[in-house]
Amino acid sequence: MRIVIIGPGALGCLFAARLGLGGHHVRLLDHTPQRAALLAEQGVFFEEDGMRHHLAVPVTADPATLADTELLLLCVKAYAVRDALARVQAHWPPDALLLAFQNGIAHLDPLGSLPPSCRWGLGITTEGANLRAPGQVRHGGHGVTRLGFVEAPGDEARQQLVAAAAAFQGAGLAAEVVGDIRQSLWQKLLVNVGINALTALYDCPNGALLTIPAARERLIAAVEEAALIARAQDIAIPADPVAITLAVCRDTAANLSSMLQDVRQKRRTEITAINGAVVAIGERLGIPTPVNRELTDAIQALEQGVA
Ligand code: PAF
Repeated sequence: MRIVIIGPGALGCLFAARLGLGGHHVRLLDHTPQRAALLAEQGVFFEEDGMRHHLAVPVTADPATLADTELLLLCVKAYAVRDALARVQAHWPPDALLLAFQNGIAHLDPLGSLPPSCRWGLGITTEGANLRAPGQVRHGGHGVTRLGFVEAPGDEARQQLVAAAAAFQGAGLAAEVVGDIRQSLWQKLLVNVGINALTALYDCPNGALLTIPAARERLIAAVEEAALIARAQDIAIPADPVAITLAVCRDTAANLSSMLQDVRQKRRTEITAINGAVVAIGERLGIPTPVNRELTDAIQALEQGVA
């Protein structure tokens, strides 16, 4: 399959490496010409289960080279989706399928504004990927990738999705096609709502949220608020999302959440796509979400260096 991965971050490089090793024709598209040139020269270094691999992957910053692509994997941060889509839209290969792999739910708006000729679906993954340096990625833990559409697809799109799942599976990445991807999206969102902002605020690994009483209380309140918002939109979520979130804290106790890593590295966070998105929907529906608002404000203050 001819695949272009947009965004050479941790997940983009993991997919490039696995799908490339799986025999697919993979290219990376970056928005920074300098980094694209560096990656094109050095290739992708990939570490998995104690083995190191090196792959030469074509990397470009020119979206005009998308021409003959069958599958686009959008792996940029949530806040970069709008710009990334604007850059590729004019070069969208006819009949190509784009799968978007962002945290949170803020990417649904820009994706929903694409013209009908641009076919897209969503990917939700629990694969662990850590970027050590540009183009140097470690597969931090094997997970599952779920692929699906928000709107009922036509036959051709459905077949493309099945083919994408088969490409993942053939490349050693567990993958499945799901009927209602919104369910998987919100399941992941609820976990991120409970863990990400609080680990960044308490500057602690995921497991510590279980042992700091005030943090645990805020986690429970934030997840319960978000669950109310999901149910108000008729999104089927698990019966006890708090228990699931607490279990993720236990299972990933030593992990530093992606938001904590962003805050420590003084990078922009995905707060508006996670807790901030819950607040925004709550406002629209007239459902108060005070804990999520407080978490959003606190992280935004950290981002601006005022907290
Ligand atoms: O964003 C993250 O870091 C992860 O989704 C999770 C599940 C919170 C584990 O660290």
